Amino acid sequence: MSNSNAERETWSTRIGFILAAVGSAVGLGNIWRFPFQVGQNGGAAFVVMYLAFVVLIGLPAMLVEFVVGRRTGMNTVSALKEFGSPRWKYLGGLFVFIGFVLLSYYSVIGGWVLRYMIGSATGSYMTQSAGSYFSEVATGFDALALHAVFMFAVIAIVALGVKRGIEFGVKLMVPAIIAIFALLAVYGYTLDGAMDAYAYYLSPDMGYLLANWQSIVPNAAAQGFFTLSLGMGVMITYASYLSEDENLAVDGVTIIGFNTGISILTGLVVFPILFSAGVNYSRAGAGAVFISMAEAFSSLPFGRVIGILFFLTVALAALSSSISLIEVIVSYAIDEFNIQRVRATVLIGTAIFLLGAPVALDPSGLDTHILNLYDKLAANILLVIGGLLLISVVTIFHTDKALDEIEKGVGNLVWWGHVWLWIVGVPVVVVLGVALTLGIVEYVEFLRGDFIPFVQEYL
Ligand code: PFF
Repeated sequence: MSNSNAERETWSTRIGFILAAVGSAVGLGNIWRFPFQVGQNGGAAFVVMYLAFVVLIGLPAMLVEFVVGRRTGMNTVSALKEFGSPRWKYLGGLFVFIGFVLLSYYSVIGGWVLRYMIGSATGSYMTQSAGSYFSEVATGFDALALHAVFMFAVIAIVALGVKRGIEFGVKLMVPAIIAIFALLAVYGYTLDGAMDAYAYYLSPDMGYLLANWQSIVPNAAAQGFFTLSLGMGVMITYASYLSEDENLAVDGVTIIGFNTGISILTGLVVFPILFSAGVNYSRAGAGAVFISMAEAFSSLPFGRVIGILFFLTVALAALSSSISLIEVIVSYAIDEFNIQRVRATVLIGTAIFLLGAPVALDPSGLDTHILNLYDKLAANILLVIGGLLLISVVTIFHTDKALDEIEKGVGNLVWWGHVWLWIVGVPVVVVLGVALTLGIVEYVEFLRGDFIPFVQEYL
């Protein structure tokens, strides 16, 4: 059973909470996933849909998680049992499951980032074609070893606890990420291809958007949840460590503002570098950023130094997101099974490492079929289901508790609160239902078209 709330840790400052949430949001989603999603889904047209999802669905979805987390002060499973009814604990269980799946491949990509950081320092990727370098390092022993190193770092931070580990870590990492990226964006601006890059990235083709909405909608929804760390209880867990009554809406807007700003900043870093190096990455998949950035750094002035800085920043961003993913599971294990934090973190981290091993050893190499199997399942299906059910439990089934909690730190909302909940409860749920259906259809097509033939070839 749950420990009493008195024993639970809390954030030491409000800014600590905001930085931890920003640190969770800003990660490989902004830097690795966002650019190839933009590339595969029509450039700026995708950016428009993604921004709409972030603002119209991301903000309410984040508030809903804050409400459940702060009201209950519990891990996701107990929080949903308490906020909803005993049945809703299964949704909390789903969140724990999503945490395992998501972090298992996220950490493999974290390992790629470490590999490229080392590669920038030694110059190893500069002596061969970027594509062949990627297929050498993306799967196999190197990938597995660096996946282990990355998980080790995650375990080390989370084992130290909420204040000494997570909060201390993000206070160093988040400002460093912003400072380095701002510098790199200025550098991007000085490059020859900068203006073309801005045009590609920032001028949407509405005709394309209308013609392709069936594939853009589910991918934009998935990217929106992924980038904001929503749909699997991270924000429930982080808000459960809040001690005072704060204005949750202001915190939500701040966090989303930071994350969106950093996504856009990432585009301002990545696209000018790619364009000026003449790299076409739009048809590449999960390896896109690695292949193209390596190619770019090989030919650009000061490429090695910029490369080290770039991949170091990405590694920090990935780390601050990973600690939030594992914390969902760790806090559940501590509360429910009374295990010590260090033990829980080591056990869970090891299990996640094992689950990610097939991704690191994927025999399809550049095609990354196993990675796609995990990523499409986690982002396009599981996070969207999680977000959809969570919004339903709060805005449709338990409106009174939700209103009461939102009003703390804000004041009496009168009828506005009900209007807001209705707006979130009905249209958002419908849109997410459509996105989920389209996402499932796409996943089945992926299984039939790519994954099953791949398995048949290797078995
Ligand atoms: N938001 C993180 C990123 O953009 O890299 C990834 C992530 C963290 C997704 C936590 C989901 C989550 F619950």
